[in-house]
Amino acid sequence: MNSGFFPSRRLRRVRAQAFSRDLVRESSLSAKDFIYPVFVLEGESRKEAVASMPGVERKTLDLLLEECAEIVELGIPAIALFPVVGDDKKSLKAEEAYNPEGLVPSVVKAIKAKFPQLGIMTDVALDPYTSHGQDGILGTEGDDEGYILNDITKEVLVKQALCHAQAGADMVAPSDMMDGRIGAIREALEASDFVNTLIMSYAAKYASSFYGPFRDAVGSADALGKADKKTYQMDPGNTDEALHEIALDIEEGADMVMVKPGQPYLDIVRRVKDEFKMPTFAYQVSGEYAMIKAAAQNGWLDEKAIVMESLLGFKRAGCDGILTYFAKDACRYLLDDQ
Ligand code: PBG
Repeated sequence: MNSGFFPSRRLRRVRAQAFSRDLVRESSLSAKDFIYPVFVLEGESRKEAVASMPGVERKTLDLLLEECAEIVELGIPAIALFPVVGDDKKSLKAEEAYNPEGLVPSVVKAIKAKFPQLGIMTDVALDPYTSHGQDGILGTEGDDEGYILNDITKEVLVKQALCHAQAGADMVAPSDMMDGRIGAIREALEASDFVNTLIMSYAAKYASSFYGPFRDAVGSADALGKADKKTYQMDPGNTDEALHEIALDIEEGADMVMVKPGQPYLDIVRRVKDEFKMPTFAYQVSGEYAMIKAAAQNGWLDEKAIVMESLLGFKRAGCDGILTYFAKDACRYLLDDQ
């Protein structure tokens, strides 16, 4: 190759004009890449801002239905539903998690009745319903004291997933990180003839400080206090373990796998996609949203540019889709640029 006075390779040639940049771009974003997380409150005609997530509101079903019209109009394929329930619904055994008359099943039914084309993903984990804010059932005796009990929790998660499927949830998304729960849920779904209910596994979920604002949003932060989730969520130092988690979840019957948080863990996304070639998702979590919002509100970063660049990074890393609180904004930016 001639690397002398006249370079024969000029990589700047394709960068010189917008049309050629457009032609050679490997990754791109569309409304179809997004899953929009929403927080739902009990009752009617009420909405509340989430202080640490400017622009995100928790709202009652009637207001959420209005928002769903907008979500569908923008072309977003699915929402992820997170319930916020009163302290009267929280207990040690999290019975409310599988109450067929509970908030999640009723909201799923109402949304599916009005917007059958909108995919609904429900979170399978006990943290909205436990009085201590942990994702599972807490041991109280002997060696188990203070430990989240895996197999007992798994049984409750199965009931919760079935309850969501019965209500019409399209995807159940276990975010609890108990061992063996994907297999148990898949088996129960098959046995109950919910053969087409998708399982999106929060397969590699790290014990992350980036979830702080979310715990404010669902109201589990106070209950959790200074406790952490390190005995079930993964250690941020590990990558091989993520592959192991994902291999097991695929074997147990997951249809789609997720890495969480997102941007600080894109190395994991790339490894997972290369290794398994499965539908791979990542969650741009509440803390990532809060950081971008805070910098934008201070005028330190250009919000639109940063949002789109960060989301494109997920695609480039190998994501088939992204759970993001910026989903609606990103769709509007895409429309602006058309
Ligand atoms: C709970 C759950 C969490 C998130 C989604 N499901 C928080 C946690 O594990 O404590 C975090 C989402 C976010 O931070 O945006 N099972």
